[in-house]
Amino acid sequence: MTEKWWMSAVGYQIYIKSFFDANGDGIGDLKGIEEKLDYLHDLGVNLIWITPFYDSPMDDNGYDVRDYFKVAKEYGTIEDFKSMLKKAKSLGIHVILDFVLNHTSDEHTWFIESRKSKDNPYRDFYIWQKPRYENGIRKEPTNWGSFFGGSAWKYDENTDEYYMKIFSDKMPDLNWKNPKVIDAMIEVGKWWLDLGIDGFRIDAVSHLDRAEFVDSTHSKDIVLDWNKFSNLPKVHEYLKILNERLFKPYHAYTIGEVGGAASIEEAIKYASFDSNELSMVFNFDHNWCNNIHDIDDLKDLKVNVKALKDVFFRWQNTFKRIGWLPLNWLNHDQPRVVSHYGSLEYHKESAKMLANLLYLKRGTPFIYQGEEIGMTNYPFTKFKEFNDISTINQHKDKFNDPNVDELKLAKKIGMTSRDNPRTMMQWSNKPYAGFSKVKPWFLVNPNYESINVESQINDPNSILNYYRQLINLRRQSIYKDLIIFGDYEIIDYENEKVFTYKRSNENQILLSINSFSKETEYFDMTNYEIVNFVIHNYNDILIENNKIILRPFEALAIEVKEKK
Ligand code: GLC
Ligand code: CA
Repeated sequence: MTEKWWMSAVGYQIYIKSFFDANGDGIGDLKGIEEKLDYLHDLGVNLIWITPFYDSPMDDNGYDVRDYFKVAKEYGTIEDFKSMLKKAKSLGIHVILDFVLNHTSDEHTWFIESRKSKDNPYRDFYIWQKPRYENGIRKEPTNWGSFFGGSAWKYDENTDEYYMKIFSDKMPDLNWKNPKVIDAMIEVGKWWLDLGIDGFRIDAVSHLDRAEFVDSTHSKDIVLDWNKFSNLPKVHEYLKILNERLFKPYHAYTIGEVGGAASIEEAIKYASFDSNELSMVFNFDHNWCNNIHDIDDLKDLKVNVKALKDVFFRWQNTFKRIGWLPLNWLNHDQPRVVSHYGSLEYHKESAKMLANLLYLKRGTPFIYQGEEIGMTNYPFTKFKEFNDISTINQHKDKFNDPNVDELKLAKKIGMTSRDNPRTMMQWSNKPYAGFSKVKPWFLVNPNYESINVESQINDPNSILNYYRQLINLRRQSIYKDLIIFGDYEIIDYENEKVFTYKRSNENQILLSINSFSKETEYFDMTNYEIVNFVIHNYNDILIENNKIILRPFEALAIEVKEKK
């Protein structure tokens, strides 16, 4: 294994729209990121991923790109970007950008041209198909559903054909079979790499190839059948081309979003050390190990700790020699982790426990903005509070149905909505959580008065300082090599409440012990002798009869020696 800078890096994801508003228009911006770089540097972060800030009509907050070479006016100017990048570099912070290559906005000039006529030179930049007719009624070319609800096809009157769009109607899918699309996207990539960025998070990368246009057999109706557009063979061909012509020449670091559809076997194809495709991939297998889809109220939430162990074991074990993984609890598409896997009752303890569980594993951390202060899901009670296009499209029928119990459904959708991670970053207890001087574009969680950066930054017992300590362990402690490169082993596989794993190398052994329980649990120390207390979310340790007594959501890491 050749060591790379990103293996020992600590990453942080910035959802620009909600991070910090520097010019007082209620929308986060590039200047806002620049102003907060010192904060991130102090936290120990040295790699940031910034979500799209390219010119866009903002149907999906920027994932619908209108012009890849322009900064959206909401977010600033290219000069703001250069200035931010310069400051990041001066602080030793690497910067990666979101590369959206599965689709563009329908307002991109390529699409404006493409829809004009069947013989337009840009026609083949997108995926067009003739309608089908059943009893004289026009129908979509296939019954494939989109990720955001409804069909994956949209009819365009002008040329009497459908274009493919696996996300929103305003996000037509690019046709990667056309070599001109590949050339065009390589130009985009080069342009940004030439400005000095370090690489890309690659959006929706597993979808670049499509199956033959035949109906999914999963249902007669419109149905979301990932297999029709996920992880198909040509994706790997395209990525090898991108790697050869774009990533490799620039030594770019790349992390692809391969979603839940990619099995470990698939992930290896994308991102093993010798895949010649991507440096790493994000997967979401560990994101849904609870009963969230079966309950109506968060109070009934149960985490399946054994399932979590299973997922982590499979990924860590499979990749231990052949590749590298990110460590992330969430991103801008997932619920807040402390609401999802922790407990609001034991907010501080459980937020720290979740960090203790994840960030002592092998891999590169990607902290999502606000996670480091324990930001929570928003308490949704009304339909009109939702903003995310995917949430709205998927539920719009129910939103318009007067017979639906609004409070009950809003609470239910609110447990998983992509809107949760997109509320404003909570900087202080000032109005709008110190995010902006004016009313922001979207909600501020009412708990900002107690959960915010300002109140935690100088408190040694805060969640924020727990993150700082964990990062410090990874970046500059005597355990650095052990945490980054050591072996990984789960040692209490059968325990449904406590998740303990061991990191080891020739010189050291570290145990990370993490309780998911509100009751008292125990960790048996018979086989171990304590060498050093490394980090702990309670102030003292209780040991009785060779057992560590674990209070609610207690978490700690200890250096040990194994007794022979
Ligand atoms: C990815 C992004 C998500 C976006 C989608 C379409 O899944 O993470 O936010 O909506 O791609 O670009
Ligand atoms: Ca702004």
